Amino acid sequence: MLDWLDSRTGIVTQTKDFLTEDVPGGASYWYAFGSATVFALILQVATGIFLTFYYAPSTATAWESTKFLMDKVPAGSIVLGLHYWGASAMIAFMTMHLLQVLLWGAYKKPRELQWIVGVILFILTLVLGLTGYLLPWDLNALLASRVAINIAGNAPILGPAILNFLQDGNGIGTLTINRFFGIHVWLVPALLVGLVAILRRGRRTHRTPHGGLAERRLHARRHEHRQLLDPRPHARLRTVRLHGGVRPRPHLQPQ
Ligand code: HEM
Repeated sequence: MLDWLDSRTGIVTQTKDFLTEDVPGGASYWYAFGSATVFALILQVATGIFLTFYYAPSTATAWESTKFLMDKVPAGSIVLGLHYWGASAMIAFMTMHLLQVLLWGAYKKPRELQWIVGVILFILTLVLGLTGYLLPWDLNALLASRVAINIAGNAPILGPAILNFLQDGNGIGTLTINRFFGIHVWLVPALLVGLVAILRRGRRTHRTPHGGLAERRLHARRHEHRQLLDPRPHARLRTVRLHGGVRPRPHLQPQ
């Protein structure tokens, strides 16, 4: 069954490669923060979808539905708690990951685009934290969001347009909750998941943590060595192709 799935999608080989991949220079806890951030994102998406089953976005129902979720829904307060603390964990992991990339110089060529996507992801995650904070519609949410909306409204050039969009002229109310909800649940998660896919694709293209050419050559040599030991004929064929200068892409080769 797994072989069948693997021959059609390459998913088993890719997962094995991913889990047993050599890390040039040795493994380190510093390299774990990127994966920890992805894990926190998955947790946020899973718990967030559960919350949408109960949450009702309007001034009359936002707090009531949140209270119902906490008091009456089985495990509701645990899921909301996970979502609440998961948001802080995700921001903390992401900050550590960004610092690691910065300090190790891993943003340098050929990974400039990954760095740019990473910075956009950082900003989008902060937007999620900010828009999520208003949703329970308690006093904290109202006061903190009023400050954030006023700051955004004072931004040069776009400020008044942003203020108008978020308040729709009538101060903070149901339309504000609706717009924050739309941004929080649809717009930003869709962008975030798409960008994470691009980032992880880039990571597989430029696999080594430091991005150095010497390390990539070392990695290619190790890969070549593994394939030479592989008794299957097509594996040796791949090695011949490698000698011809083609980068090994095992998951794209016919099995
Ligand atoms: C697809 C992804 C997500 C969905 C569907 C989602 C959905 C929701 C919903 C429905 C609520 C309102 C809960 C309630 O008050 O009853 C909420 C609250 C919140 N969300 Fe999300 N969310 C998602 C991702 C995220 C992410 C990635 C973050 C931050 C990194 C985040 C941060 C927050 C915060 C801070 C709250 C306020 C929790 C509270 O104070 O009780 N969410 N989210």
